[in-house]
Amino acid sequence: MNVSVIGAGYVGLVAACCLANSGHNVICIENNREKCLMLINGHVPFFEKGLEALLARGLENGKLNFYSNISYAKYSEVIMVAVGTPSQPDGRVDLSQIFRVMSEISEMISTPVTLIMKSTVPPGLGLQLQQRFLNGNSHLISYVSNPEFLREGRAVKDWYDPERIVAGTEIPGTIEILRKLYNDIGAPLCIMDISSAEMVKYASNAFLATKISFINEIANLCELVGADIEPVARAVGMDSRIGSHFLQAGLGYGGSCFPKDTKGLDFISTLNGHTFNLLKAVIEVNARQRVVAIRKLSRMLGTLCGKRIAVLGLSFKPGTDDIRESPSLDIIRMLVDEGAEVSAFDPMARLPQHRGIPQGFIMCTDVLDALESCHGAVVITEWREFVELDWEKAHSLMIPPRVVLDGRNCLDPLKLSALGYVYAGMGRMSGKLC
Ligand code: UGA
Repeated sequence: MNVSVIGAGYVGLVAACCLANSGHNVICIENNREKCLMLINGHVPFFEKGLEALLARGLENGKLNFYSNISYAKYSEVIMVAVGTPSQPDGRVDLSQIFRVMSEISEMISTPVTLIMKSTVPPGLGLQLQQRFLNGNSHLISYVSNPEFLREGRAVKDWYDPERIVAGTEIPGTIEILRKLYNDIGAPLCIMDISSAEMVKYASNAFLATKISFINEIANLCELVGADIEPVARAVGMDSRIGSHFLQAGLGYGGSCFPKDTKGLDFISTLNGHTFNLLKAVIEVNARQRVVAIRKLSRMLGTLCGKRIAVLGLSFKPGTDDIRESPSLDIIRMLVDEGAEVSAFDPMARLPQHRGIPQGFIMCTDVLDALESCHGAVVITEWREFVELDWEKAHSLMIPPRVVLDGRNCLDPLKLSALGYVYAGMGRMSGKLC
């Protein structure tokens, strides 16, 4: 099929590369010329496992082409919209890119096209978009909401092996187009109306975020009553009605999706006259979890003022260089505010200059350099590099009291204690608040 993908962000670029790899002729429109040029030259602007190889293949066999002008999408059978819908400070979803692209599409289309909305948009928006932009040419443009469930770090795998494909449409013919487009993907197709499909995306992310905040609350309680979150979460998750995923206690969720979508859904709820109390609590618990970590570290060290702390990990999870809404950003800021000196290391992520690197913060290119002369360390991201670190060597470089706050419960408490560290996890028995 001849497909155009609008937007070469995480979702759009993965979609474009995977569709081209499946044999479709793909045009990817990226209006940032610099980024577009980078892609034409085979460079992926962020790290995503397997993506650069797919990009190279698509460019080489001519199945994938990049342009910065949307007019190249004019004669496609399918146009997939994958532009950003970032969060405003009040939680509102910024739809300006969607509106711009919809207006451009509606103006240029002269032959029948299926318009697939991949961007995460508030429930009800698809119907509004049709009324606002497609009324004059509804006979040409068939709209379908088709949210994505890709995880950063395994997006290519998730593309080919999703647990379901959700399709929201009022036009039965579009389902056949989707079947053709995804003919090499063997997942169940869930067909529904547009608003419901839009809601599936928000409900899925909000539910996963709820599981995380719930287990973090249980972890905090475990510390107070003398229980250990690790065996608790394991046994709770063995109940198939609950499931073992997303019960990993720690510093809470980050990234470009959960924070944005939970705040977005809360805003949408309020806008519609509903107070989503559970979701408000999920968001609050997640924010508080970072403060809990600072409080713990401060108690273990007596004070943070004048102490040197190593921050291990900047990215919001391993396998990605994405630091958006990562707990590391809040934790570094709070440490510096408390008067600590911070040295940080991440195997992949960097803190860009424009993020306002505070005074008292240095970025290291080696994990042991980051730990040298530190009174304490906090593990923010469960990178393998930290799990498998030579903690004995690190011990000889750090200075007393050699506190380790394991913000992801990924280290071996017994091993670290035996080496002479003062270890604390999140809700682990050995990391109890005194
Ligand atoms: C998430 C969803 O998992 C995807 O299905 C969805 O498509 C995507 O958002 C999106 O909306 O585009 P992602 O943001 O890549 O994907 O990250 P996850 O792997 O879901 O992790 C999110 C955060 O939760 C991370 O900070 C992770 O450390 C944290 N987390 C996850 C926990 O704290 N505990 C857990 O048990 C699991």
